[in-house]
Amino acid sequence: MRVMIVGSGGREHALACTVARSDAVETVFVAPGNPGTAAEAKVTNVDLPPDDFEALASFAERRAADLTIVGPEAPLVAGIRDHFDACGLKCFGPSRAAARLEGSKSFAKRFMARHGIPTAACEVFTDAAAAERYIRGRGAPIVVKADGLAAGKGVVVARDVEEAVEAVGHMLSADRFGEAGHQVVIEDFLVGEEASFICICDGEQAVPFASSQDHKPRDEGDTGPNTGGMGAYSPAPVVTPAVHDRIMGEIVNPLIRGALADGMPYQGFLYAGLMITPDGSPSVVEFNCRFGDPEAQPVLARLRSDLAELCLRAVDGRGLEGATLEWDTRAALGVVLAAGGYPLDYDKGDAIAGLDDDLPDTKVFHAGTAVSDGTVVTAGGRVLCVVGLGEDIAAAQSLAYQRVATIHWRRMTYRRDIGFRALQRAIG
Ligand code: AMP
Ligand code: GLY
Repeated sequence: MRVMIVGSGGREHALACTVARSDAVETVFVAPGNPGTAAEAKVTNVDLPPDDFEALASFAERRAADLTIVGPEAPLVAGIRDHFDACGLKCFGPSRAAARLEGSKSFAKRFMARHGIPTAACEVFTDAAAAERYIRGRGAPIVVKADGLAAGKGVVVARDVEEAVEAVGHMLSADRFGEAGHQVVIEDFLVGEEASFICICDGEQAVPFASSQDHKPRDEGDTGPNTGGMGAYSPAPVVTPAVHDRIMGEIVNPLIRGALADGMPYQGFLYAGLMITPDGSPSVVEFNCRFGDPEAQPVLARLRSDLAELCLRAVDGRGLEGATLEWDTRAALGVVLAAGGYPLDYDKGDAIAGLDDDLPDTKVFHAGTAVSDGTVVTAGGRVLCVVGLGEDIAAAQSLAYQRVATIHWRRMTYRRDIGFRALQRAIG
């Protein structure tokens, strides 16, 4: 099988490695990929941008790719799946219609209300004065979200009413998020522990991946500004077998049935960002129409099943009936190494040392890197994700940080407490 992966981040590096592990896969193209994917066996980077659907489809056709797997949300929300369908090419990822579950938070909220999926109560506003009245009536803490895609930067969890009103002002009036900010969703603050629950879906059923947990805030103890994710681990102990069953029964299966009933069958990775309340009730914080990043790096490091074959089955009519996923029973934990300044303006172009050191049961995934004069340099906010595999979260954590200690660049930064919630639980 020949597979094309669309995207260039750490998630796509993990997808490419996972797909390449299968004996049935002879070649993996990554468009455009990164220096990490370029170095993998069987993997070739292709210099095409993820938003040029014509060029991607014509490459897939010319090079006889049997399947294309789309990594990031932007091309999915813009309709890459529909374009590939129209060209008669197999593409794994939701249609433009289904990807709106990530592309528009107000759409996702209406969908959840219609299909009885638990999520925080909310209202949608285009008018700042009306939003302010609602916030003052509702009180804080309260959460303000730009409606459209905002690269993880469109959410403000406001501790007081003034902060929420200011966030609405920024989003609606100052036009900081462009199109994404023309509507805001204001929702109740949910209390609990977050978990990421990702499934592979064929339109009629969903097969869950191992659970995971991300650390979105930049600083230790889950403080500081929100980021795309500073580290993740799998499994997430907060997702007990009972919680797992509730997530499937109350959220994932109703979504699959609801999407089908609404005429937009959901095929692709489905990411449910959840809050698990102290009594074990799951509630949806957000849906994403793709795999999580950095969740993909630790979750896929544990996957033993043939991912490309499952993705192909999901879109070629065979379906996922009877499919189960096999897992390495060990835990995996990934630490994101970020450039100084991230998530605001960050440094670029710093030479990275230590990439060639090798430590068994660890893997360095590239996200924001480039090659300059033959050296790998930083080129993005989240630069690398270092994953360790171990008997439990503590062992995986210790190994990941051992590998992190061998990597350096100017003003490299990372959190030293990835996995702390799971470890607290283990201690009791
Ligand atoms: P999102 O981009 O929607 O995932 O939001 C980013 C982060 O904001 C989430 O990972 C949560 O930590 C936090 N957040 C979003 N919505 C809520 C909510 N209703 N209650 C509490 N925290 C939230
Ligand atoms: N790590 C969060 C996300 O992928 O949206």
